[in-house]
Amino acid sequence: MEIQGIGIDIVDIERIEKMIKRYGNRFLKRIFTEREIDYAIKNKNSAEHFAGRFAAKEAVIKASREALPMKEIEILNRENGEPFVEKMENILISISHEKKYAVAVAIVRS
Ligand SMILES: CC(C)(COP(=O)(O)OP(=O)(O)OC[C@H]1O[C@@H](n2cnc3c(N)ncnc32)[C@H](O)[C@@H]1OP(=O)(O)O)[C@@H](O)C(=O)NCCC(=O)NCCS
Repeated sequence: MEIQGIGIDIVDIERIEKMIKRYGNRFLKRIFTEREIDYAIKNKNSAEHFAGRFAAKEAVIKASREALPMKEIEILNRENGEPFVEKMENILISISHEKKYAVAVAIVRS
């Protein structure tokens, strides 16, 4: 395996909360897919999960060096909770979030 790119991003969860409060579905649907929205809203701390996905999308853009539209990068979870990027098997991601911040890293491998 050869590493071809790496990306990292940190997101202030309150910023995402404010965007959701202000723009609601208009914001969510511009950035996230239906499956991502379903996943996040299942949880009571949904803003943390949205922020984690947002960070992961930014990390993927950095790692791949491609200005892909956010919604084209779909972050899903396996049954054990592990996140992955749908249809981008050569990209590995990891997400973490706490009350204030969400972070994610992405690695592009050959
Ligand atoms: C994976 C694990 C270490 C997450 O730790 P945590 O400190 O609670 O959570 P963090 O805030 O650091 O990270 C949360 C993110 O971890 C990721 N994650 C969850 N499960 C994961 C796993 N098995 N492997 C890799 N990443 C995982 C997810 O992306 C999650 O964010 P999301 O739900 O918004 O997508 C923890 O859940 C664990 O030990 N799981 C293994 C055992 C297990 O499956 N237990 C089930 C619950 S009892």
